[in-house]
Amino acid sequence: MAHEKIEKNVGLLAVLIAVAVSLGGLAEIVPLMFQAEAIQPLPGVKPYPALQLAGRDVYVREGCYGCHSQMVRTLRFETERYGHYSLAGESVYDRPFQWGSKRTGPDLARVGGRYSDDWHRVHLVDPRAVVPESNMPGFPWLESNRIDGAALTAHMRALQRIGDPYTDADIAGAAAEVAGKTELDAVVAYLQALGKHAPRGD
Ligand code: HEC
Repeated sequence: MAHEKIEKNVGLLAVLIAVAVSLGGLAEIVPLMFQAEAIQPLPGVKPYPALQLAGRDVYVREGCYGCHSQMVRTLRFETERYGHYSLAGESVYDRPFQWGSKRTGPDLARVGGRYSDDWHRVHLVDPRAVVPESNMPGFPWLESNRIDGAALTAHMRALQRIGDPYTDADIAGAAAEVAGKTELDAVVAYLQALGKHAPRGD
């Protein structure tokens, strides 16, 4: 009887559906917010140094995430190919996170150290110069764009304000650290640091 009443009353049905979905969501999401392993950085994981942070900003701006995930799943064929599966504690300073599932290109969570800086420089400017069958677009403008030290400083200050443990000295030194560097230098520094804190083996 009660069932029939609910099914015939769209407003009531909508409210009850919202309640049921919220309860499920809360049960799944809230515990994660308090679980140490999901919110605490792994040993050695620190906020991105200035140059890497600048590179990450370029990565997001250029939409690299449209073709590359940064999340190795807990599946054998993934760990065989890329390395240890991703852990939440690796990306506590990633805002926004770059996990994703869209893989036109390979996952990049473990790409740090896989190639030389020079390989990355050539590849980013003209992918087909090193991978003839590549369908990744080139990003030649990164070579001539300079990093905006003032914008980077403001970004770090904002991250500090929301809790990232940057020191005032980190922030004060940021503009000098990236002075004269190009966006290409920054993206390469960022890529080379990816996966640096992953546990060894799988
Ligand atoms: C339209 C899709 C697309 C976009 C956008 C894209 N890539 Fe790629 N990327 C690929 C493909 C496909 C490959 C594999 C072929 C190759 O190595 O070029 C690849 C390969 C790579 C590799 C080598 C990975 C490995 O393990 O061999 C790196 C590093 C990389 N991309 C970085 C980037 C960065 C940084 C950006 C943004 C500036 C970017 N990609 C944007 C498609 C894309």
